[in-house]
Amino acid sequence: MCIFAVRVFLGILLCAPYQCLECPFGCECFAVTRTVKCVSKDLLTVPQSVPGYARTVIITGNNIHQIAPDSFTEMENVTNIILSNNRITEMASHSFSVLINLRFLDLSGNQLALIHPEALSIPGSPLQELNLSRSLYNFTALTDLTTALRWGGLGGLLRLDLSGNHLALLPPGMFSHLPNLQQLFLTNNSLVAVYSGTFSGMNHLEVLDLTQNAFRIFRADALQELEKLGNIHIHLGNNPYTCSCEIHNFVTWLNESRALLDVDAVRCASPGELTEARLQRLSVQAIGCVVPVQAGVADLTLQTSYVFLGLVLGFVGMVFLFVLYLNRKGMKNWIIEMRDACRDVMEGYHYRYEIDSDPRLGHITANKDQVTLNVRHVMSPGLLCNFSK
Ligand SMILES: *[C@@H]1O[C@H](CO)[C@@H](O)[C@H](O)[C@H]1NC(C)=O
Ligand SMILES: *[C@@H]1O[C@H](CO)[C@@H](O)[C@H](O)[C@H]1NC(C)=O
Ligand SMILES: *[C@@H]1O[C@H](CO)[C@@H](O)[C@H](O)[C@H]1NC(C)=O
Ligand SMILES: *[C@@H]1O[C@H](CO)[C@@H](O)[C@H](O)[C@H]1NC(C)=O
Ligand SMILES: *[C@@H]1O[C@H](CO)[C@@H](O)[C@H](O)[C@H]1NC(C)=O
Repeated sequence: MCIFAVRVFLGILLCAPYQCLECPFGCECFAVTRTVKCVSKDLLTVPQSVPGYARTVIITGNNIHQIAPDSFTEMENVTNIILSNNRITEMASHSFSVLINLRFLDLSGNQLALIHPEALSIPGSPLQELNLSRSLYNFTALTDLTTALRWGGLGGLLRLDLSGNHLALLPPGMFSHLPNLQQLFLTNNSLVAVYSGTFSGMNHLEVLDLTQNAFRIFRADALQELEKLGNIHIHLGNNPYTCSCEIHNFVTWLNESRALLDVDAVRCASPGELTEARLQRLSVQAIGCVVPVQAGVADLTLQTSYVFLGLVLGFVGMVFLFVLYLNRKGMKNWIIEMRDACRDVMEGYHYRYEIDSDPRLGHITANKDQVTLNVRHVMSPGLLCNFSK
């Protein structure tokens, strides 16, 4: 009783009576800093009749399940609202649209399952910073949020925190309606890949934080997407990178990119012998790639393939000889038939040779090569026939 009396007395002493009386139930109001605090009071709704001087409203650790369009009436001068850890599950249409001066909105540590497409729209796009860290309930909430970002007219947004939301996948073009975004925090999620188009439309990005995700590798399209962002700060540390030959493109990119990277934190998680090794400047040999350009290695490969070719040809030859051996009777008959046939042909050629070498046929004598050719024509069947005898 006594303590209560002292408190009332101090209260009257320390602040002008009209301001203290104006403060909503469960809150503390500070006229000097223009701040209203309603911390861990099990409030079920956003308190009404917040004093007109308030610019910062902190409502955290309560049990507010829903944000509705009438939640913030008469707060048009408020610039900062912190609504973290209130178990908020639902944001209705135009929840914040009376807050025409709102620049900073912290919704972190909630369980948003239902986000209306126009939940975030505020006339004049005053919002500059939105914190949705650990606030999305599941993947449905992410698709809802994507729609809300598109419909919200958040052209003035500079900073967006989506960390700690178990995100495994980002819808393509998710941020394309945030053209002025400068800082995007996606840390502590479960992202495994970046695709072409993931970060499209963001032309003013300065910081992209992808630390503490589930990236094992960045493939060529992902690297292209990151390179498109230009010379911005990109944080890629604390991901479980697999340092096999496949990561070669990523290492090359780390070696050469114009982006400002946290290369010291980009380290291998596997295989065992490379654990904790810095990815940048890893040699291609270290990550187990065959080196194609080194001459000695190339020669050895070539020699090996020649030896192999020789073995194959030898084997084919042996099979051929074996088949010949098995058919030796048939072959003999065939050769005799050939010889007889040859003899007839030989006769014909002999006759032609005599005509061809006739000096009266001027154009052929002029061309000695052709004569030789003709002679060879004559000779070769003859040789074959002699051989077969
Ligand atoms: C907001 O500020 C304007 C100008 O300072 C003032 O006229 C108005 O009454 C304030 N609104 C509230 C709800 O206090
Ligand atoms: C968002 O809120 C979380 C938790 O309240 C905090 O740790 C984090 O720093 C905030 N993000 C930004 C960008 O300030
Ligand atoms: C997300 O949660 C909501 C509400 O509990 C539920 O209706 C929806 O089916 C869930 N979505 C997924 C993908 O689990
Ligand atoms: C990562 O996010 C989970 C929930 O999504 C949270 O419990 C954990 O504290 C976060 N870790 C860090 C280091 O922020
Ligand atoms: C990265 O650079 C280092 C030397 O700075 C070089 O040894 C290594 O082969 C390069 N890695 C790739 C994949 O380009």
